[in-house]
Amino acid sequence: MKHLLKLADLSAAEINEILNIADQLKYEKKNGVEHHLLKGKTLGMIFSKSSTRTRVSFEVGMYDLGGSALFLSSRDLQIGRGEPVEDTARVLSRYLDGIMIRTFAQQEVEDLAKYGSIPIINGLTDYCHPCQVLADLMTIRERKGALAGKKLCFVGDGNNMANSLIAGGITMGMQVAIACPAGHEPDAALMQWAAENGSFLCTEDVQEAMKDADVVYTDVWASMGQEAEAEERRKVFAAYQVNAANMAVAKPDAMVLHCLPAHREEEITAEVFEQHADEIFEQAENRLHAQKAVLVKCMGNAQ
Ligand code: CP
Ligand code: NVA
Repeated sequence: MKHLLKLADLSAAEINEILNIADQLKYEKKNGVEHHLLKGKTLGMIFSKSSTRTRVSFEVGMYDLGGSALFLSSRDLQIGRGEPVEDTARVLSRYLDGIMIRTFAQQEVEDLAKYGSIPIINGLTDYCHPCQVLADLMTIRERKGALAGKKLCFVGDGNNMANSLIAGGITMGMQVAIACPAGHEPDAALMQWAAENGSFLCTEDVQEAMKDADVVYTDVWASMGQEAEAEERRKVFAAYQVNAANMAVAKPDAMVLHCLPAHREEEITAEVFEQHADEIFEQAENRLHAQKAVLVKCMGNAQ
């Protein structure tokens, strides 16, 4: 695996292999096993948006694997002043062994991979969030024992999280159901692919989507870059809340996941959030283990 640009690029076998490595690295970290799998390697981490989990888990992950990480805010890089991505890619390829980038346009990530000569890892774009969903699949597999056949329901905005959950869930044989208001559906091409390759539903009816779900997932109503629309979105998404009444139609043992940060009493009630805090914070922890597996696959010597 050279890059991680989007989950739709990975096969079920590749995702399974990443999850198996992640499980092993998690076990070994908890048992004090040291690794030098990325000794002498440096990851550049370009951020054009805020981050807590992605930044810290990638940085700690590189240290855990014997390498190092550089935090590069796009505000301070020349790319923030208009230096073309094709030049940035060719320059950084001569200093670094890999780049993790969080930005707005998916095209920027694809262009870094096209013009650079080192592995590129997508740390979130407006289109998708593959690292998050690898950690999500890891968490579901840990708690439910398997992915295939389980029903995954996403409630909320059909943007980056929904897109990656569709790609990852369908690839792994899950049933995927999305509940979102009209006009906020996930990517049309991805939905068509999902319908042709698995069990997929996209509906405006929250309870139809949540019915018998094994996993209920939600995300903020206004994503990074949409702050100006937050008030309007609170109205549009008001019915798309994960709350006790809606949870009643999911399976009694349904998990609740949230990529975080969470806005209590908007997309999820504080009550449901706290009932499932154990799952949600394990999901956050699993970012570290899943991303270490991605780093080893993309940047390790034995690829
Ligand atoms: N879930 C997630 O990517 O969190 P951060 O925005 O804190 O990195
Ligand atoms: N949809 C959110 C996800 C944050 C991890 C955003 O893009 O801001």
